[in-house]
Amino acid sequence: MALAASNSNNNNTANPKNNMFGSEISSQHSSEIINFYKNKTIFITGATGFLGKVLIEKLLRSCYNLNKIYVLVRSKKGASPNQRLDEIFNCKLFETVSQYCPEFRSKVEAIQGDLVEPNMGISDEDEKILINSVNIVFHSAATVRFDEPLKVAVDMNIIGTKKVVDLSKKIKNLEALIHVSTAYANCDRQHISETVYNPPVQPDRIIEAVDWIEEDLVQLLTPKVIQERPNTYTYTKAIAESLIVQECKDQLPCAIIRPSIVGASWREPFPGWIDNFNGPTALFAAIGKGILRTMMGNFNSTADIIPVDIPVNLMIVAGWYTGAKKTKDINVYNCTTGQINRLTWGMLERCSFDSLMKNPLENIFLVPNPRFTSYRLVKFLRHLVEEAMPSYVMDLYLRLIHKKPFLVRVQGRIKKAVNTLEFFTSTQWEFTNDNIYMLIEEMNEVDNKIFNIDVRDLHWKSYIEQYCLGTKKYLLKEDMTRMNHCRKQLFNLVRLRKIMFSLIAVFVVKMILFRSVSFKQLCYFLFRMALEFANKFTKLLSRI
Ligand SMILES: NC(=O)c1ccc[n+]([C@@H]2O[C@H](COP(=O)([O-])OP(=O)(O)OC[C@H]3O[C@@H](n4cnc5c(N)ncnc54)[C@H](OP(=O)(O)O)[C@@H]3O)[C@@H](O)[C@H]2O)c1
Repeated sequence: MALAASNSNNNNTANPKNNMFGSEISSQHSSEIINFYKNKTIFITGATGFLGKVLIEKLLRSCYNLNKIYVLVRSKKGASPNQRLDEIFNCKLFETVSQYCPEFRSKVEAIQGDLVEPNMGISDEDEKILINSVNIVFHSAATVRFDEPLKVAVDMNIIGTKKVVDLSKKIKNLEALIHVSTAYANCDRQHISETVYNPPVQPDRIIEAVDWIEEDLVQLLTPKVIQERPNTYTYTKAIAESLIVQECKDQLPCAIIRPSIVGASWREPFPGWIDNFNGPTALFAAIGKGILRTMMGNFNSTADIIPVDIPVNLMIVAGWYTGAKKTKDINVYNCTTGQINRLTWGMLERCSFDSLMKNPLENIFLVPNPRFTSYRLVKFLRHLVEEAMPSYVMDLYLRLIHKKPFLVRVQGRIKKAVNTLEFFTSTQWEFTNDNIYMLIEEMNEVDNKIFNIDVRDLHWKSYIEQYCLGTKKYLLKEDMTRMNHCRKQLFNLVRLRKIMFSLIAVFVVKMILFRSVSFKQLCYFLFRMALEFANKFTKLLSRI
């Protein structure tokens, strides 16, 4: 039986129309999209994930007159689907919607299930409810781990998608099935259009293969199987797209969304919201703590980051467009920024450095100093001198004072995560975005405001500043009132670094000095000049 999300018994449950945001309320009558979602029933997979949570929040806040949202949730770590939903609804993300529309919980119901189980683990009773009531399906669930064993990735990303399609085929009044893929599904190509390409292997063949081949052997064969693709994630997502075309073309109203690297929110429900360490978030946290100082990456390559509110709005807009316009084709939407409003890894490096120096994190290990490099040797040397050696020294110190060492371990983990990203920081792709522009044209002015999918006026420097602040506040859960204390900590570290460099320089010069007095004098003179220059240069930099 569908489990009802716990209901708020708060009496402050006035008509949601009066509770929604002014701009959205005053314009609701001219919003085609809000009208489309009126009284609609929605089914979401991946609702407990990063995109899923933001999608539910946005639907509840902007399409408040929808009928119901069913979400597929599995039990996890002893928590039932309902308990998991309660926990999500109590988080900061839902503060705005719970303030203006406290009864929102009654609109969301958990359906107990698991994509890897037969029939998604959904009970017959729940399946009946879904078949009879659902109008729009958003399929967002996936394993997004890059290094997932091929068998697990196939099970989740390909077979799981097939199960969602099978259920969608049974739904009586389906108006749209929105499948969330990734912009990197076709990362073996340089130019990626909004089309589904031929898969590396037919879906049924890979499903059959992983079914009968021993798990160890599948693992052994994986590099051969995935060929030019960097990981099992992009490989299985590419095949899932083909499966969607094979299974849905001329049968189901369907669209595919392909976000690039999804980052913290730009504007909605508030700037900088983030709740996981995926993608650049891990980089910002590790750079901010001074633990990560170098990684492979091309300074001039595009860093295709998309704020989470954009793919979420796009999912809702694509649902409307597919359902209301009764599109015949399976539209693909490249939800990317590179060709619309370009950010490079070099810009990201500079902006994150500026932001993390302005708003430092707590308990910094070393002064933040991120550097992308295209040379493995440079990376290796910097890693050795600036990451590995200080971590070993620090861990040794911790041992000496009878505390548990942790830096080498943390560094190892970060390196592992960073290595999986390096393919994406060292390569760049060109995406076409014609279908995004088409949607912007098709939406009226009001909908373009409420369901913004246009990133042309995204200001990257301010966005990255908000992103780094969001990482500190929402993810690392640091106390923002201690910002001045953090700034003092950073200032002391900078001073300490200067003193250390000066001492090292003096020591080195003393060691290598010839005994000749005139040479000694010349060296002292040059050293003083260098120090003066360094001082002026530092001051100049701090003014920029
Ligand atoms: N984040 C990105 O940068 C990015 C970029 C491009 C595309 N995408 C795509 O966007 C979609 C959502 O990504 P995300 O970042 O939100 O991922 P996420 O935070 O890892 O969330 C994954 C979701 O899938 C659910 N899930 C995993 N295994 C499941 C299973 N066996 N049964 C039922 N549900 C299961 C998870 O549920 P549990 O909470 O129970 O684990 C969670 O709700 C994915 O399709 C991904 O490929 C993401």
